[in-house]
Amino acid sequence: MAVVARPGGARGGAVPQPPSWRIERADCLDFLGSLDDHSVDCIVTDPAYSGMNQHMQFGHGRIVGRYGDPGNTRWFQEFHDDPETFAHLLDECHRVLRPDRHIYVMFDSYSLLSLGALMRERFQVKGVIVWDKVHIGMGHYFRRRHELVVFACKGRRRLARRDLSDVWRIRRIHRSAYPTQKPVELFSRMLAGSVEPGMRVCDPFCGSGSSALAALEAGCSFVGADISAAAVDLARRRCTAWEAGDGDPLERPAAASAAPDPELV
Ligand SMILES: C[S@@+](CC[C@H](N)C(=O)[O-])C[C@H]1O[C@@H](n2cnc3c(N)ncnc32)[C@H](O)[C@@H]1O
Repeated sequence: MAVVARPGGARGGAVPQPPSWRIERADCLDFLGSLDDHSVDCIVTDPAYSGMNQHMQFGHGRIVGRYGDPGNTRWFQEFHDDPETFAHLLDECHRVLRPDRHIYVMFDSYSLLSLGALMRERFQVKGVIVWDKVHIGMGHYFRRRHELVVFACKGRRRLARRDLSDVWRIRRIHRSAYPTQKPVELFSRMLAGSVEPGMRVCDPFCGSGSSALAALEAGCSFVGADISAAAVDLARRRCTAWEAGDGDPLERPAAASAAPDPELV
């Protein structure tokens, strides 16, 4: 829990404050543009990529389609992940991130090949983490069981822990409340060696709010956005429940989850 000095506090001392959060319905670039320079301590994000989908068509639909719903051809509105827009996104991430801080950006294999180099032009890329989802998913050739997380630094900052491997075995969520919902655990592992309580975490594509929950559980405040009204509603409800002491309505708490997987260390 963050400790904030408040003049009116008991004997004028520091009063523990619950971490705060703010989630806006906004386009990622508009949202980042509204933040001050050097105003966040860690960025963890899982952007909406369209590249893989454009190259992997199934029948008449796209892999983000909700096929069962008549007239509904997409799970969500997509971010235009052409190199110029993605470069703009990363420039904004670089501007709002404090010096000597970490950024984690998720990629699928296609987007990593097409856009990953843009990360290296702006940040010191320190590694690529493999998220092993344990069970296989969709795919035309080798069916996909992993996603990738690029871990990078603005300036110089070590990981606070030395016991974290770069392969994370975390079960994907089945029958999720939100179509692209990621486990809170995934974001908890990103934050485990990169933040301290009281820091401010940012996710401009926060979806159902799993990154927000991970930040709050780490004692950090959170600022995030998503373009989807349904996502923002869900993310806000999760944070409100967590704040009220009711835990996470979508997943059991991932509090102890930053512990490394004993199978993989
Ligand atoms: C891969 S999902 C993120 C899922 C999230 N990590 C979770 O656990 O729920 C990508 C999100 O980006 C959002 N999105 C798409 N285009 C956007 C844009 N231009 N600005 C902000 N969010 C956008 C989508 O609505 C979607 O929720």
